Amino acid sequence: MVAPAALTMLFVSMVGLEHLPKAYDCLWRSYHGILGAQHAFIVDDRCLHSSFSILELGTGVRLSHTENLVWASRDPVDPSLDDTPLNVALGQLERNITAFRPTAHEHPAAQLHLDVPRNRVRAIHRGQDGLLLSASPHDTAALGAVLPRYWSLTPVSPFPRRLLPVPASTKQHLRDLLPTIQFDPVTAAVVNGISIPHLPTTSDISLVKIQHAPLAAAWIKRQIEATGATCALKHYKENFAPNVICEYPASAPGTSNALVVLGAHYDSRGSFGSVRAPGANDDGSGTGALLTIARAVARRGVAFRGRVQLCAFAGEEQGLVGSRAYADPVVLTYGAAARSLARRGANVTMMIQADMVGYHAPGEPAQLGLSNPGFEGSPEVVAILERTAALYSPSSKLGTCEPDHVSFYEVGFPSSILAERIGWFNDPAYHDSTDLSSREGYSFQHIKDIAKTQLAAALHVAGYDLREDEM
Ligand SMILES: *[C@@H]1O[C@H](CO)[C@@H](O)[C@H](O)[C@H]1NC(C)=O
Ligand SMILES: *[C@@H]1O[C@H](CO)[C@@H](O)[C@H](O)[C@H]1NC(C)=O
Repeated sequence: MVAPAALTMLFVSMVGLEHLPKAYDCLWRSYHGILGAQHAFIVDDRCLHSSFSILELGTGVRLSHTENLVWASRDPVDPSLDDTPLNVALGQLERNITAFRPTAHEHPAAQLHLDVPRNRVRAIHRGQDGLLLSASPHDTAALGAVLPRYWSLTPVSPFPRRLLPVPASTKQHLRDLLPTIQFDPVTAAVVNGISIPHLPTTSDISLVKIQHAPLAAAWIKRQIEATGATCALKHYKENFAPNVICEYPASAPGTSNALVVLGAHYDSRGSFGSVRAPGANDDGSGTGALLTIARAVARRGVAFRGRVQLCAFAGEEQGLVGSRAYADPVVLTYGAAARSLARRGANVTMMIQADMVGYHAPGEPAQLGLSNPGFEGSPEVVAILERTAALYSPSSKLGTCEPDHVSFYEVGFPSSILAERIGWFNDPAYHDSTDLSSREGYSFQHIKDIAKTQLAAALHVAGYDLREDEM
């Protein structure tokens, strides 16, 4: 028997990676996603040696096998929620994992009256911001249930995916657009059509969260369809709820293939023993923002000149499964690969994902967190959002937030996140049964301000007219 080739996982800083010469072709084909603040590649020795100089930029970790790799990391929480320094906490987690025993009675071996195997969760590598583990899916699930609050496990994709740069022509298009974005009273009237009474009410949002995911998907579809969009439930993977993809027809089709995507995720997750996860903030708030945007579009009679999609993704909490399937899937099921935006050669000029936009800690100034430009966000999209926020939602303080949304970024679509706060998040109800819209700090005003920025950017980038009969 031939021993399987030795593999190495390379952790490489993301900054400037897209400027690497094409010669690193084997790297681009060995990409396994973003882990913490670094890109991860799994390469064989041949690729390792030909990419030797990249090692100076990163770290190499020898792997004895690659199946079931899992990344354990602390969510980007403010020290007010967890003040243990990260390096100390990582050391604790490593010790805890060494001592970890999956619950015997739940183990499949125990059900067959076999000895439950010893701990098979191993820490392979301790990075700056996480631990790389080797663990079976069963042990991963068992470990996930006992992880401390604000820690998450992200399965590392066993399949390489593509990492593509944003095409130069798309970047140039956005750079050319930026100076044309000036205050416009008609645009202001449209975005002011997002009013608090038109935000989905508390019961709307909890309806989305409490019902089973397929019912929630059907409900979101009906709501957005009622505003003139065409929606489809896109199934992409067994045992996952569908993505809800809605599109407004372009009033000037044929002039450009550009597509603007506004997104949020409608799934939610409880952690730390919290099974019920109403998710009013994460991400009922972003989903609510999409619904209010749809209602403002209908109320003001907006006809976008270019294509605009509103997307409520599922499977975010399992590692961006839904949005990845839509942007460019790794696991090919239900024909999702053929339909993915990247494989169809879609020209996404701007993607804005609103995730956790509803918590505003009492006493803090109103803020808006954007992706870190050049890191996992497009500098061009971040610049457009900075400008539209300053024009149409000027009371918010702007800054960058911790990385989160990368599905579109990875395949070369310019994108940014919109989040409720600069830097780390400080929502104490994160992934908890208390994440309800009726609590202190949950702010419909904050959701409204952020939705205005999201809509204004789409209006300026896609272009629009108002239907005569609505004026
Ligand atoms: C490690 O285990 C201790 C004791 O159970 C617990 O207090 C601590 O939160 C755990 N820390 C991590 C990072 O796993
Ligand atoms: C995408 O669309 C924009 C706007 O029409 C255009 O300038 C750009 O060249 C297109 N990019 C690609 C890769 O087709």
